[in-house]
Amino acid sequence: MHKKLLLLFLFPFACIGQSAPQQLPLVPYPNSVQMGTSIMKISEETKIQINDAEDEELRILAGLVFDEVLETTGIRLEIADSSYANPSGNCIWIKKHKLGNSNSQDMDVRILSGVYEKSEHYRMGAYANQVTLISSTHVGIFYGIQTLNQLIRHYKSELPSFIIDDNPRFRYRGMHLDVGRHFQSVDFIKKYIDILAMHKINTFHWHLTEDQGWRIEIKKYPKLTEIASCRKETVIGKNFNPYLGNKKVHCGFYTQAEIREVVAYAKRRYINVIPEIEMPGHATAALAAYPEYSCTPNKKIEVETKWGVFEDIFCPTEETFTFLEDILIEVMDLFPSPYIHIGGDEAPKKAWKESAFAQDLIKEKGLKDEHELQSYFIKRIDAFLTANDRKLIGWDEILEGGLSPNATVMSWRGTAGGIAAAKQKHDVIMTPTTYCYFDYYQAEPSQEPFAIGGLLPLEKVYSYDPLPAELNRIEQEYIMGVQGNVWTEYMPAASKVEYMAFPRGFALAEIGWTKQEFRDYSSFKSRLVPHLAALQKFNINYWNKEF
Ligand code: ACM
Repeated sequence: MHKKLLLLFLFPFACIGQSAPQQLPLVPYPNSVQMGTSIMKISEETKIQINDAEDEELRILAGLVFDEVLETTGIRLEIADSSYANPSGNCIWIKKHKLGNSNSQDMDVRILSGVYEKSEHYRMGAYANQVTLISSTHVGIFYGIQTLNQLIRHYKSELPSFIIDDNPRFRYRGMHLDVGRHFQSVDFIKKYIDILAMHKINTFHWHLTEDQGWRIEIKKYPKLTEIASCRKETVIGKNFNPYLGNKKVHCGFYTQAEIREVVAYAKRRYINVIPEIEMPGHATAALAAYPEYSCTPNKKIEVETKWGVFEDIFCPTEETFTFLEDILIEVMDLFPSPYIHIGGDEAPKKAWKESAFAQDLIKEKGLKDEHELQSYFIKRIDAFLTANDRKLIGWDEILEGGLSPNATVMSWRGTAGGIAAAKQKHDVIMTPTTYCYFDYYQAEPSQEPFAIGGLLPLEKVYSYDPLPAELNRIEQEYIMGVQGNVWTEYMPAASKVEYMAFPRGFALAEIGWTKQEFRDYSSFKSRLVPHLAALQKFNINYWNKEF
């Protein structure tokens, strides 16, 4: 059909003479957008209608539109229900319903267990008198509302007309935050989650344990919070040798009640929270509290005050496994996530090389070396999590010495680990340092606040395609998605976290959501400017120099 005729057909109320915007200022950009020429005016007459009065979750979702319209325009809309009839008059109609045939991409969604199972597909049209949002799932409705609310923030009460048919490219779209190096308040964690949700990110990877601090209350092991959650001071800058500390204690942990509160808060925003409990390395803080689980029980271990990779790691004794499994039991009770991250990265093997116990275990189990011993360690934890209906995620070091049967690999040292894991038919999350490490500088270091190193400008983040060309079509199915990592050695304040994480995190959101063929950096930049302006009210200290 001729394009103009098609538009007339789709937009029967189109007013001649209005000029339609070229593209909507949305981030991430939807996977199908057709622009119309009319204006949908939101006014006191506009009703928010839902199609099922019994559906409490749908009513809560409708409330998100109500809140946005009230905050942005001051207009207080009525939320009505119209279970049995098509609504008429000026309305925003939110309909949970099976989507009819169209260019639906639902077929692409690989069915997994738990939160990643549900279709995130939604369809939305804005016409001269009505906005209609349809999805078969609440999460799809939620994403439609994120799109709508972005438009309301930008256009206020006069929306251009459009038809959007939208479904994410990847089922896993994650952002990480390290609270081990620097603790952040529950209020900030909630704000971070809000920002992620607005950009259709569906996973918050909460890095809760580190050499420099253990941040989660475990009832069975109180010394984890009494001792491991505090370090006596923090290295100043990169003064490792000679060492220079700031002589200020740094403490903090989340109580179990706070963790439940955050998980529930994230759930209402359709975000799964994956906790990370590091093992066998990055365990200095835990071992300062419980040195009996190191290979050198008599050695005095202190919570680390400087950054790096440390040699005191968990010793693979039965007592250590009991300790870690006890911890994981409490963790699984707090986090309904189908995935539990157990770290696995940067575990130096010196302590195991020097331990008679570890060496005997290598012989007893017929293992080749300490790498196979690490693999044995991770396999034990994998079996434990699998028996509890959870799935293990580990950093790509878990490939060394043999991958455990049910492991999902988070590929950070480049993409080779992810490629190898996908070829072995294991699920993969791509987060290579060169594109996804938001602790790197984002512009010329001399012009930027102090950071860990590296250089990762926004454009480079945006250029990343998580699907490696080395994988064939079937193997690519194992690439679940992509994640941005925010390691906080040099981010003591929440405002610095925001500065480093955004807008690179918005580029990441678009990588995860928008199909490669629809991605274009100059389009992203031109949408980002009004988008950031519309985000002003959220008081996000994003990097805002030159895109
Ligand atoms: C990591 O950056 N050590 C996963």
